[in-house]
Amino acid sequence: MSESKKVINFSAGPAKIPEEVLLQAQNELVNYGSAGVSVMELSHRSSQFSKIINNTETCLRDLLNIPINYKVLFLQGGGSGQFSAIPLNLIGLKPDHTADYIVTGSWSSTAAKEAEKYGKVSRVLPKLDSFTVIPDQSTWNLNPDATYLYYCANETINGKIKHYLSITFGLIFAGAHKNVGCAGVTLVIVREDLLGYALPSTPSVICFRTQAEHKSIYNTPPTYSVYIAGLVLQWTKRQGGVSQMEQNSIQKSSAVYDVIDNSSGFYVSIVDKGCRSRMNIPFRIYRPEGDEFLEKTFIVESEKLGMIGLKGHRPVCLTCINLFVFVKQFHRYRKQARK
Ligand SMILES: Cc1ncc(COP(=O)(O)O)c(C=O)c1O
Repeated sequence: MSESKKVINFSAGPAKIPEEVLLQAQNELVNYGSAGVSVMELSHRSSQFSKIINNTETCLRDLLNIPINYKVLFLQGGGSGQFSAIPLNLIGLKPDHTADYIVTGSWSSTAAKEAEKYGKVSRVLPKLDSFTVIPDQSTWNLNPDATYLYYCANETINGKIKHYLSITFGLIFAGAHKNVGCAGVTLVIVREDLLGYALPSTPSVICFRTQAEHKSIYNTPPTYSVYIAGLVLQWTKRQGGVSQMEQNSIQKSSAVYDVIDNSSGFYVSIVDKGCRSRMNIPFRIYRPEGDEFLEKTFIVESEKLGMIGLKGHRPVCLTCINLFVFVKQFHRYRKQARK
């Protein structure tokens, strides 16, 4: 950690941005290259911004090995915007306007509710008492005539991920503020043959075909967020790309889960082992439903140690990324407190 940064940020999003990226952005803040102005002041139709958005796209394509028949869009409206944009753009692909939703947590549940405004939505999993497991794929009640199948790969609030899903994808979306930059830009990667089926009422700014035809500049895009995403993607490439990031995530999350699992029940993982997220690790303290005093103490003490963003989303207790240092320290603290 540099002198200027005295905290470790565990926030699930908006999340930490590599310091190298922040320093580069700081360096270029007032005068971008030879532009004489900040990126924030550049016209979205200028040659400099065209270069920025094109380079960001190229970098993303390289990192994810995106096939040529997929468009990359830089949109606004966040993940929640996509909850509407996806049905609006895709549900018209087949005449009966039906879609299947795999509801494994809070976000896919919200997405399914939003989609119901535009068509018939079927929740394909067997009824669950809680969002702590993902039932086996063989139990899913998939409708072969559904226009699309919606799946949330990482349920941020519930801390769940399904690592291997044997389904090919037509569209992927991601909010940049998780690990691709700052809030404001939403990445959409969509197969070309899925464009052109938007319901007539679809607003032009979220119409995938319109935005693809205008290379994401149908209207003013979130220029600075696109620029920051470009810097983060270049940084990711320098670190070794996606496979290195995956290794890092495995290492970091295993360290946290090991502490939880070896805490003799003091920390309680609320997610089934088979579908634990590597990005977000919600857990309770002392009991599956948590202990108010200990959990509040955990947050207060973590802040004293310069660790912020550990408090989880309201429905769960603690959502944490890169948590292991902290868990160990808290464990020590608890032992001392009991002496
Ligand atoms: C999996 C998932 N989907 C959707 C959203 C909503 O995104 P936004 O706040 O950008 O609308 C989030 C936000 O944390 C998320 O984690």
